[in-house]
Amino acid sequence: MRVIVTENPGPGYGLKIAQAEMPKPAAGEVLIKVAAAGLNRADISQAEGRYPPPPGASSILGMEVSGTIAALGEGASGHQPGDEVCALLGGGGYAEYAVAAIECLLPVPKGVSLVDAAALPEVHFTVWTNLMDSARLKPGECVLIHGGSSGIGTAAIQMLAARGHRVFTTAGSDEKCAACVALGAERAINYRKDDFVEVVKAATGGRGVDVILDMVGGEYVQRNMSAAALWGRIVNIAYQSGMQASVNFAPMLMKRLSLLATTLRARSNAEKGAIRDAILREVWPLIDAGKVRPVVDHVFPLADAQAAHARLRSSGHIGKILLTP
Ligand SMILES: NC(=O)c1ccc[n+]([C@@H]2O[C@H](COP(=O)([O-])OP(=O)(O)OC[C@H]3O[C@@H](n4cnc5c(N)ncnc54)[C@H](OP(=O)(O)O)[C@@H]3O)[C@@H](O)[C@H]2O)c1
Repeated sequence: MRVIVTENPGPGYGLKIAQAEMPKPAAGEVLIKVAAAGLNRADISQAEGRYPPPPGASSILGMEVSGTIAALGEGASGHQPGDEVCALLGGGGYAEYAVAAIECLLPVPKGVSLVDAAALPEVHFTVWTNLMDSARLKPGECVLIHGGSSGIGTAAIQMLAARGHRVFTTAGSDEKCAACVALGAERAINYRKDDFVEVVKAATGGRGVDVILDMVGGEYVQRNMSAAALWGRIVNIAYQSGMQASVNFAPMLMKRLSLLATTLRARSNAEKGAIRDAILREVWPLIDAGKVRPVVDHVFPLADAQAAHARLRSSGHIGKILLTP
């Protein structure tokens, strides 16, 4: 089968088409004929040699796909060859075929094309577990999502708006801010022009937001504490602006704040299965009803993986970038 291999892992990596053996589904896995693979920022870190796949996962890039089940591993009950699915993977998505654990499979929602379904798994697993399991978001609470035009952000804004939350978000251009408002954000803050702390405080009568989902880190660690309400929860899924910060922790004490952070990829299949069950119950009906949709920026042929990565690195995109074999 055709796959993408990473040449010269490091800052100047190259992505090339190569031939590889078809993967075989192990017990509790299915083989998927890939219709599309979703790109994630972590793929760049992996290609640069800074983020190795978890033990046992394919070394081929790609943490999510959509496609058709082609074969079943032992004990992969409840599924049939020909079923259309999307799936979270430990790796191996940039290929014609990939294997996925049954705990990480989801059906293609109504009204979503098989290709676009590849934009759904990683963002919804990540958004749900961080907002609900980690930050314990309650009905009616107010949320700030940083990076609103990212794959993660576009999913979070829609899901939260559909569930009746007030959503504030940040993005780096007026065009991106307009897209975030169209997806359901009450206010999108162009962080190059305005201070999100001031905007959020003014819009909430000085109270601040209950939950913040942050992928920026760096100086945002301190500023998030300023934007948070009493008993606020701040959850980081990345630290793009820096893993280190000089922080005054006084607001943590005075406002009874919680500072949280998680990664998804290295979790067990059992943990991922529990998240899958929750999003199947809570989010998939919103997609079936057209209240939440995959936001696809661009679809590239698999052979153009290098160009697809260039677009992701440029941050010119809004939503997800996909590859089709
Ligand atoms: N922990 C986990 O389990 C987990 C899972 C999935 C993803 N992630 C992480 O979550 C992040 C988003 O993932 P993705 O695949 O959706 O990536 P993406 O589409 O490339 O999004 C990255 C976003 O960060 C925004 N950004 C950069 N600096 C910013 C700043 N100072 N203020 C506000 N926004 C800023 C960029 O927006 P502008 O261009 O507007 O600056 C861009 O939209 C990535 O860092 C990824 O590694 C973590």
